[in-house]
Amino acid sequence: MAIQLLAGKRGVIFGALDDQSLAWKIADVCHQMGAKFTLTNAPVALRMGALQELAAGIGAEVIPADATSIEDLENLFTKSEEILGGKIDFVLHAIGMSVNVRKKKDYTNLNHDWMQKTFDISAISFHKMCQVLYKGDHMAEWGSILGLSYIAAQRVFPDYGEMAESKALLESFARSFGYHFGEKNHVRVNTVSQSPTMTTAGKGIPGFTEFFGYGDNMSPLGNAPAEDCANFCATMFSDLTRYVTMQNLYHDGGFSNMGMNPKLLE
Ligand SMILES: NC(=O)c1ccc[n+]([C@@H]2O[C@H](COP(=O)([O-])OP(=O)(O)OC[C@H]3O[C@@H](n4cnc5c(N)ncnc54)[C@H](O)[C@@H]3O)[C@@H](O)[C@H]2O)c1
Repeated sequence: MAIQLLAGKRGVIFGALDDQSLAWKIADVCHQMGAKFTLTNAPVALRMGALQELAAGIGAEVIPADATSIEDLENLFTKSEEILGGKIDFVLHAIGMSVNVRKKKDYTNLNHDWMQKTFDISAISFHKMCQVLYKGDHMAEWGSILGLSYIAAQRVFPDYGEMAESKALLESFARSFGYHFGEKNHVRVNTVSQSPTMTTAGKGIPGFTEFFGYGDNMSPLGNAPAEDCANFCATMFSDLTRYVTMQNLYHDGGFSNMGMNPKLLE
């Protein structure tokens, strides 16, 4: 049996689409560690995905919410508090989508309407989520809010399109809201910058398979697997990390601090 690190904790998990999703793995680990939580995704993803299967397996309720809609978010957190029987201790935002990336648009030829949509779904939704949690007083004292990011926020990855700026915006929202939430009721807000991972969103990036191998060789520990990301996120939701806030935390096998790995030349 897993350590009951999250016994008694109530949470909300966004973004589990299928069993490859980072959020799916995180939900699995949080469940094993004793947490109770609701699961949510966009209505369209609920029709296409397998979320009900995950929910049934772990006895969680699914509440549909488009993360760009304030109304949906208000409904989600109000209902989650009712279902879980109290304020929320942890929230995972694992949401990303870019039509430009999906359609393999070159960075020098992006469609700006799609770019706005990317920012709205992948980054502004994080601010909306935090604002609804803040104004509705939904978070418990010493709660923990996490978003998932990628190192393209700091370094250039040419095929990542405007998702790079989207992640930079996400990390900045987390930092800024971390101040407001910390002052309000000791809630911490962080982002976890994860290695490339074979998921629906990941595989949508042109050249992802080659890049996955490059990341694996560059990182002294290799790419961090989704299961380990889940363990790390669970630690961030636990009481063992109460004073970590306003940080972008690399969970990447060391990739972010490497310049060159001779393994790549072999
Ligand atoms: N896969 C990687 O290589 C990698 C690396 C670092 C960070 N991340 C980040 O991890 C997070 C989760 O992605 P993933 O790789 O598990 O892929 P995924 O495709 O399984 O998850 C993306 C999720 O976003 C949801 N979503 C899209 N639009 C939405 C909306 N309007 N409202 C609510 N939900 C919406 C999708 O339904 C899906 O469940 C994303 O933020 C992604 O950028 C992924």
